[in-house]
Amino acid sequence: MFPPAQAGIELVGRLDPLGYNYAGLCSATKKGLHVHSGYQFPLIWLRDSCQCPNCIHPDNKQKLFSSGELDAEAKLDSASVREDLGPEPVLEVRWGGLGLNRESSGGSHTSHYPFSWLTANAPFDASGSPRPHFELPKHQLWSGREFSEVHNFIPYDEFMDPSKGGLYRALVQMAEYGLFFLEGVPIEDSKVTEVASRIGVVYNTFYGASWDVRSVPNAENIAYTSLSLGLHMDLCYFEAPPGLQFLHCLQNSVEGGTSIFLDSFKAAMMFRERHPDHFAVLEQVPVTFHYYNNNRHFRYRSPTFITTDPNEPLIVRYAPPFQGPMEFGHPDEVGPFYRAMAKFEQYLSNPALQFQLTLQPGQVAVFHNRRVLHARTAFDGSSGLRHLKGTYVLYDDFKSCLRSEIARHR
Ligand SMILES: [Fe+2]
Repeated sequence: MFPPAQAGIELVGRLDPLGYNYAGLCSATKKGLHVHSGYQFPLIWLRDSCQCPNCIHPDNKQKLFSSGELDAEAKLDSASVREDLGPEPVLEVRWGGLGLNRESSGGSHTSHYPFSWLTANAPFDASGSPRPHFELPKHQLWSGREFSEVHNFIPYDEFMDPSKGGLYRALVQMAEYGLFFLEGVPIEDSKVTEVASRIGVVYNTFYGASWDVRSVPNAENIAYTSLSLGLHMDLCYFEAPPGLQFLHCLQNSVEGGTSIFLDSFKAAMMFRERHPDHFAVLEQVPVTFHYYNNNRHFRYRSPTFITTDPNEPLIVRYAPPFQGPMEFGHPDEVGPFYRAMAKFEQYLSNPALQFQLTLQPGQVAVFHNRRVLHARTAFDGSSGLRHLKGTYVLYDDFKSCLRSEIARHR
């Protein structure tokens, strides 16, 4: 139970049905301390989240105990707000014991929580609803026209120079639209990895840290021909296909070779709304993706849509060029699968959903490989030269970079 309110401190708490104590967040005013009604902090959560150097290593910021070690009966001795510890008020909580089930659990423990930290990390709002932390900008689903309204090339020097805002603009646009373009990137082979490194570590695959897209004889990948290449994601045959793909145009004097981009999340949402039965089939039947060439045999099976992943509201996997022979769980799945896929592809082939652009030398397309499908129209290899250089960066690296940039721009 809670200790009696201290002079000048109003601290409210209650026992929830599970038996955990809850404390409201104290806020400081000139008159004293009052409970802020905005958030709820279970006491055991506060103890679990202690930021002191015995609980979080001061150098590497890593936690020094596990949640399983907490004393579920952790009691507080007192709570007060200190205004003498730094530029902002700090909630000081003195615990009745160590708060951990350890052999040396005698003694006491004191935790300090700056108010800005509490506000940023509160697990529940006043009504007890969960409160997400570090939310990224929300997806803006787009059609071709809607993307063309926000499309603006970001100059290379603004992207690379930390004193300019190009990187931040690019990252926010990636989070929202899954696609941005740079221009004025020098025509050099090394530039695509230099640009990618601004966001994260270059992701090395069997194609190499970077790879060339140009037509070559006996190509091991359809991308390395002059054929048209339909909408797809790269590396669907990996368990975790990379998030960001970069394509730097070094040469493009051919007829054709236009790039097409399409927001698969938009297409999937439209499809689900109008054809829920077909959508459900593509949620259930795994598609086999493979790369079976040059002594390499990559393989991964996944439904076209996944809506049950707690970290991502929607996952789409779509890459016809890399589809292997289907394996069905039951003969009854066969007809519905092919009917559903045919219907979904009507949405993908809708020109209104596509954004088209013929990359010019010095331009870089950067897109969320697991969201924005990409394609290329055929080109006449005898009419000139077309050479793109590509690379990948993990989506985790992108999100880390975006969170850092958001904090820097706050
Ligand atoms: Fe591709």
